[in-house]
Amino acid sequence: MPAAAAGTLRLGDLTVNRMAFGAMRVAGPDIWGEPRDRAAMRKLLARAFELGHTFFDTADSYGPDVSETLIAEALHPFPKELVIGTKGGLVRPSRHRWDRDGRPEHLRGAVDGSLKRLRLERIDLYQFHAPDPSVPFAESVGTLAELQRAGKIRHLGLSNVSVRELGEARRIATIVSVQNEYNLENRSSDDVLAACEKAGIAFIPWYPLGAGRALRPAKVKRVAVRLGATPAQVAIAWLLARSPLMLPIPGTSSIAHLEENAAAAALGLTPDDVAVLDG
Ligand SMILES: NC(=O)c1ccc[n+]([C@@H]2O[C@H](COP(=O)([O-])OP(=O)(O)OC[C@H]3O[C@@H](n4cnc5c(N)ncnc54)[C@H](OP(=O)(O)O)[C@@H]3O)[C@@H](O)[C@H]2O)c1
Repeated sequence: MPAAAAGTLRLGDLTVNRMAFGAMRVAGPDIWGEPRDRAAMRKLLARAFELGHTFFDTADSYGPDVSETLIAEALHPFPKELVIGTKGGLVRPSRHRWDRDGRPEHLRGAVDGSLKRLRLERIDLYQFHAPDPSVPFAESVGTLAELQRAGKIRHLGLSNVSVRELGEARRIATIVSVQNEYNLENRSSDDVLAACEKAGIAFIPWYPLGAGRALRPAKVKRVAVRLGATPAQVAIAWLLARSPLMLPIPGTSSIAHLEENAAAAALGLTPDDVAVLDG
């Protein structure tokens, strides 16, 4: 199980392998509609678990509904080690739109929809996908805290938040994770990562490969050649080395890339490699 090589991390009372899987790209092109080959995507999801990824990140907006449905088709009844983190708070009125909707009535329906598609009675990690500027943040988080008290959600996470928003949410509910964009090429959430470290909660970097951009810099290629690794493996290993609370979720629709990425869990960067990549 190569993905187990990077050790584990806690999400509340749950333990997952730090090398995780982003299941957004099992939906169709532009994360819209069905994939070209559903059976191949089910196989990819099953392979991701076999390789030791015990945390899968998804969202109701991926497809919409497609990623969650395929995860259930591929792996339900879920093995007890597998933790599914889904998200709600975005809607897809058309292919290129990702609109925010943090209204209580929307979030209540969204949680019920995810429970149904994932065939669960309780969602292990439910992440508020993004603050909605037209709804007070405390009202959205408060609604999710109510759903947690009602037993529909085990743990709450946030996504696309600032340090201030994280602090506000933590005054309302227990937050176990934050998911923001973070990779070698975009470290604008360094302050949020530091706040997560201070609070002892997981930081889930989305776009861990910068959607491909983090594989291009010459320094990444140089370290990869030195280690006999690939640029994607170096980009993931840098994240894993960056913080013990980092839970990378690289996404792919290719089994070859999935296997390559899982092997990054065992890639040891030297302090010199880290210094080169940090620069
Ligand atoms: N919270 C949010 O707002 C938010 C936003 C975006 C994403 N996410 C989450 O973050 C996860 C990861 O994001 P992502 O998939 O968009 O970006 P990513 O992991 O940074 O990069 C994925 C891209 O890199 C390619 N790739 C993957 N492995 C590779 C390898 N070994 N060599 C070369 N290319 C490789 C993939 O293409 P192939 O398919 O060809 O491998 C894909 O185009 C998603 O699955 C989703 O769960 C969350």
